[in-house]
Amino acid sequence: MTSLLSELVADHAALVASIPAFPEQPASARGWTLGGEHICHQADDLTIMVLDTLPGVLQPPHDHAMTAIIGVFQGQEDQRFYARSDTGVSLTRQRSLLPGDTIVLGENAIHAISAPADRPARAVHVYFGDIYAVDRSLFHPDTLQAHPYTGDRYDEFCRPDPDTATATG
Ligand SMILES: [Fe+2]
Repeated sequence: MTSLLSELVADHAALVASIPAFPEQPASARGWTLGGEHICHQADDLTIMVLDTLPGVLQPPHDHAMTAIIGVFQGQEDQRFYARSDTGVSLTRQRSLLPGDTIVLGENAIHAISAPADRPARAVHVYFGDIYAVDRSLFHPDTLQAHPYTGDRYDEFCRPDPDTATATG
């Protein structure tokens, strides 16, 4: 699957040309404007989606409780990786993904995503399970303590991205 995704995003220009732009997204309850998503496939053993990441928002650290792979085909998706610690999680490294780049996130991986001010990201996200059906964790952006993942808590834990000048909430 990883090599298939790598092949797919290697021709990122073709994906840009063939995947329509998402309609403008409404602001969340707390005023964040996150990127749209389109679910291409959802089953017990596999979820595939196209996900946009918009500038201005530092999305909260979270896990997936399953292996995931990401392939970027437009813009830049900034990744922050975390490791579990005695008190929650701690930031370990960062990486910016550009068109054609793929990464594999192991079953226990924890990451947070954002996009730089001038380059919203579009990427294919693949999860080796039903990402909408599993119990997983979100981490508070300040305390880095774990909490059960909910959509409302994801919204609550978003913060203005200090690396951009276009924060929305
Ligand atoms: Fe994620």
